Amino acid sequence: MADQIRVLIVDDIPETRDHLAKLLGFETDIEVVGAAASGREALEMAAQLLPDIVLMDINMPDMDGIAATERLSSEVPTAAIVMMSVQGEADYLRRSMLAGAREFLVKPFSSDELTTSIRQVYTREREKLSRIAVQAATPTNGTAAAAPTTVPARDDEEPGRIVAVFGPKGGVGRTTLAVNLAVAAATELGQRTCLVDASFQFGDVGVLLNLNPKNKSIADLIPELEVGEPESLDTFLINHSAGIRVLLAPPSPEMAELITPPVVKRMLEALRATHDLVIVDCMSSFNDTTIAILDLADTVLTMLSLEITSIKNIRLFLEVADQLGYGSDKIRLVLNRADSSLGIRVADVEHSIGRRVDHTIVSDGRSVVYALNRGVPFFLSNREAQVSQDILRLASAVAGTNPAGSAEPARKGAQKKSLFAWR
Ligand SMILES: Nc1ncnc2c1ncn2[C@@H]1O[C@H](COP(=O)(O)OP(=O)(O)OP(=O)(O)O)[C@@H](O)[C@H]1O
Ligand SMILES: [Mg+2]
Repeated sequence: MADQIRVLIVDDIPETRDHLAKLLGFETDIEVVGAAASGREALEMAAQLLPDIVLMDINMPDMDGIAATERLSSEVPTAAIVMMSVQGEADYLRRSMLAGAREFLVKPFSSDELTTSIRQVYTREREKLSRIAVQAATPTNGTAAAAPTTVPARDDEEPGRIVAVFGPKGGVGRTTLAVNLAVAAATELGQRTCLVDASFQFGDVGVLLNLNPKNKSIADLIPELEVGEPESLDTFLINHSAGIRVLLAPPSPEMAELITPPVVKRMLEALRATHDLVIVDCMSSFNDTTIAILDLADTVLTMLSLEITSIKNIRLFLEVADQLGYGSDKIRLVLNRADSSLGIRVADVEHSIGRRVDHTIVSDGRSVVYALNRGVPFFLSNREAQVSQDILRLASAVAGTNPAGSAEPARKGAQKKSLFAWR
């Protein structure tokens, strides 16, 4: 049957392989095309059989499932991997997803869970592949004729810093902070700064910077990022008059699922090679792409507000961050609208989450909303406001430069008050 889902089973225990094959044998739309007893055998069989789905055990003697997944993702990219493990910990999940797995099943699982996962992953992959094919065949907006704006490699060897702006609850001010932080770092600290809108579904960065939604975005880069290092990254970055470069989120929400952890990783590595600072406006959902960003980040600015739901989510996030091995230096807590009198004091928050807030940003609805509606960052339109000064202090801290007012930025090659200092 043409539409059968071809599955390769990989497990070192013969009984498990037989059991899985039997379970799947009842499904008319699924065909088990082979069973491998090790990671190495899986690589050989997958290259020959070209399965749609590889059901991969994590713990195997010679080459474990994570190493095999990494190799398979590049050697047989059309095969989608569903990981199986008795360990359901966040670390296993994270490592599997970063290696390129599409789904993670914790053993023991029911036959329903298994077949549902296989069908879902198969459908998602097919949709993804057909969209990539369409994108590759469609010339992107004017890029063919546009002269590439090349950014010279940074003169220092050190890679730039990646700063993720995250918050486990929506609406806490991540985009507002990310945009103004980027502008402050570029205009006041002379940092070659790139702002990435990683709110891949509903990115707002373009709105705050008054950019045309028809501009190029990360969606145009996906075909290149799927296969390796992007060669024309510069072409997709927008030079904004505020002194920063911007990589926008895709123009439509359904494109977000094309952005996988390996895509995100390659994008950020390439950006940090040509910028001092890469500021990433993250989504609030804690999925595999968010984890890939947080993993790579040097600093995670974790935003919270004086609301009970925000505080509860921060507490949960700090536990996960701990499990993922992020040190307390990497996670910096930023309390936004710190002075809004909602009946909760900063000290109460600190007591409740068991750690101190590292930075605070005042509430200033007038400056912030006025700037938002004009599409001009408040850091430019209201440079003297307290909220702008708070942002600058935070920018200095994350960029590793001297505090505001000091003439000498600490980073090599940085020039004060120069727009596009690197061009
Ligand atoms: N310091 C501040 N003072 C006053 N208003 C603020 C401040 N920071 C953010 N806001 C306002 O809070 C609202 C949410 O901000 P923003 O869109 O930046 O949050 P977000 O976390 O990115 O939200 P989303 O979950 O939609 O991505 C906006 O209306 C913004 O203008
Ligand atoms: Mg936002």
